[in-house]
Amino acid sequence: MLVRIITIFPTFFDSCLGEGLLGKAAERGVVEIQIDDLRAYATDKHHTVDDVPYGGGPGMVMKVDVWDRAIAAARKAAPGARVVLLTPQGDRLDEAAAVRLSREPGLVLCCGRYEGVDERVADHLVNEQLSIGDYVLTGGEAAALVVLDAVARKLPGVVGRAESVETDTFTAGLKFPQYTRPPTYRGWETPAELRGGNHARIEAWRRAEARRRTSRRRPDLAALAAAHSVRLVLLERAMAAAISDPQSAIAACAMRAVEAYRLAQLVVCVPDVDTRQVLRNAHLYDVRIVASPEQLLARAKHETVIHLADQPEADQLPPAEVRRVIAAARSGITLTWGGPAPDGALVAAPALPGPADHPLALMAWLDRLFGTRELQTE
Ligand code: ADE
Repeated sequence: MLVRIITIFPTFFDSCLGEGLLGKAAERGVVEIQIDDLRAYATDKHHTVDDVPYGGGPGMVMKVDVWDRAIAAARKAAPGARVVLLTPQGDRLDEAAAVRLSREPGLVLCCGRYEGVDERVADHLVNEQLSIGDYVLTGGEAAALVVLDAVARKLPGVVGRAESVETDTFTAGLKFPQYTRPPTYRGWETPAELRGGNHARIEAWRRAEARRRTSRRRPDLAALAAAHSVRLVLLERAMAAAISDPQSAIAACAMRAVEAYRLAQLVVCVPDVDTRQVLRNAHLYDVRIVASPEQLLARAKHETVIHLADQPEADQLPPAEVRRVIAAARSGITLTWGGPAPDGALVAAPALPGPADHPLALMAWLDRLFGTRELQTE
């Protein structure tokens, strides 16, 4: 991935880009980083990049024409790249945004400075604006580094084991605590569960600790963490009826669901679906294909099963209630979609625009259940 950073402080990046994970990524050719000096696009002999604000007020504003030339050069050097302006006014960077940006062919990170950047840059020249948090930095350079680091570790081959990206904090709520030798230091013990070598016990302990920590420290993430233990069962029938190419739609739908919602397990209950797409990333996710839904549902007896209904009817659970059930679930949740509700399942009301048996309806449903925007506003 080509990443071009436009800045008035090109040397800011000197020390960190050669080091650690970013240094390794660059060495291996996974990312190529170009630093571009914004002043090179100024036209006067003083290389002026800012001017006084219209309407008065303190500080200077970065000039639109200078940014225009710099961004045009960047788009030429990195065709198809997504151009991002770093600003505290932007959308908040999170893991989902990092994953999304890691799929772009290239990135252009525009570092704002001073009191601001002429609004026409945001309105007409960039694809999006990102903030790394609700505080004001002296400039976008530190924010660009944060974005670059978060995105780079999502690229294949940057972090050694795919597993450590998979267990990152936020991918599944907060991460479990880690310890290393010595087992006791100044009387501070490491948990006995981690020392016995019993993998099932270690896994159970880690899951429980991660869940406890998430609900105590970040209740806002708890529903998202619960989503991590969701299994999604796609039944072919409803989709086959709804669309002309059910096989590729199921594969596309399955992939999107796994990636976007980071479901711990995805089970596609279809006989002949082309699963190559789904399996492409199976090393990152616990994706399984099983032949019959009955087989799956028998295994999921201890779990709560929620069926996402095709048709709205009386006594179905509204989305807020479904979310509450998911967040409160002790063991996993199985969501089923397509076909009739399995015995004993809670049935959830769709309330969706358009036909509820289309794959897009499933996506809309999952958005309503796990979408961060919804979680923030409720
Ligand atoms: N520039 C100044 N503050 C920033 C922030 N919080 N995020 C991104 N860019 C910034």
